[in-house]
Amino acid sequence: MTASAFDTLKQELVQRPRTWLISGVAGFIGSNLLEHLLRLDQQVIGLDNFATGYQRNLDEVQSLVQPEQWARFHFIRGDIRVLADCQRAMTWPATGEPVDHVLHQAALGSVPRSLNDPITTNEVNISGFLNMLVAARDAKVRSYTYAASSSTYGDHPDLPKVEPKIGNPLSPYAVTKLVNEQYASVFARCYGFKTIGLRYFNVFGPRQDPDGAYAAVIPKWTDSLLKGETVHINGDGETSRDFCFVENAVQANLLAACTTDPEAVDQVYNVAVGDRTSLNQLFDHLRDLLVPHGVDAATVAQHRDFRAGDVRHSLADIGKAQGLLGYAPTHRIADGLRQAMGWYVGRRSVDASAG
Ligand SMILES: NC(=O)c1ccc[n+]([C@@H]2O[C@H](COP(=O)([O-])OP(=O)(O)OC[C@H]3O[C@@H](n4cnc5c(N)ncnc54)[C@H](O)[C@@H]3O)[C@@H](O)[C@H]2O)c1
Repeated sequence: MTASAFDTLKQELVQRPRTWLISGVAGFIGSNLLEHLLRLDQQVIGLDNFATGYQRNLDEVQSLVQPEQWARFHFIRGDIRVLADCQRAMTWPATGEPVDHVLHQAALGSVPRSLNDPITTNEVNISGFLNMLVAARDAKVRSYTYAASSSTYGDHPDLPKVEPKIGNPLSPYAVTKLVNEQYASVFARCYGFKTIGLRYFNVFGPRQDPDGAYAAVIPKWTDSLLKGETVHINGDGETSRDFCFVENAVQANLLAACTTDPEAVDQVYNVAVGDRTSLNQLFDHLRDLLVPHGVDAATVAQHRDFRAGDVRHSLADIGKAQGLLGYAPTHRIADGLRQAMGWYVGRRSVDASAG
């Protein structure tokens, strides 16, 4: 079997470690990036204001890596809405050298949150993004990779989604992610500062927050099933998504950050698997996986109204990331759900023993 582009890259990184900045490091995707980079002996600066992220996510990463790997992590509690915080995060404190790679994840996620509070979503996701872009440009970092979103496809009807064909945004959140892409391309044109945007499609996995009104569907339903609470499906359940396990998103970030192909930068890429799963199928999947953990195999979900701002179907064409970045997802939904369920079940037993 030939080594994948990702395997080759990981070997290179271990041999010649680099310095990274992860914004949103205490969140779901950010903490998974942190775990993977520390396991590869990289130096990492993390920036977060704990708006939706948690110290416990950082503590868990610390428990999963070696002490000498954890010692290569430097955390800054700061806000991307403050330019000085972004500027401070761009250099490794001991040397004053700029970081090599920025992985910008910090944002306020969730379509409903943005409908309830478009102003804060705008401040964080647009002004904060611009601060990070300016700080990274001025620090002359080697690469800037940012979390874009499949919500940018909006009302475009075509399936699967291909990068150039986008529609009108359906929520304030989608507007912010579209504006990110526009700022990124303007920075390439006006300042020659080239970036890569990764349009994530429904990422899931360990450390994705199950709590609160804005929780994503997989952690929310898993939590409800484990607690014996009713699961609500918005609409008829035939709404579909291309669910992407977080390790695939980590792979895409590292490949994007380290690409040396000039054609591959100043681009946006779909990050998904290329599989479509309906909400009804997802519910059955989750329930069946949780039966060994006490969930009744006869459990059914309750349907309620469709939710405002939601896209009906989402399915990615991942050919561009495969071709230009060498992206090759390692986990399809079933593999990812098994790993994620293991984490949610473990988390519940830790919570229970903590009393
Ligand atoms: N999870 C998904 O399915 C998905 C899909 C598309 C796009 N995205 C994007 O991926 C990124 C990461 O999402 P996630 O699922 O890990 O969410 P998350 O909420 O778990 O992580 C976001 C992190 O950003 C931090 N943050 C928020 N505002 C900040 C601020 N002003 N200053 C500093 N830090 C701040 C939060 O505290 C949190 O730790 C976001 O940009 C999100 O829009 C996620």
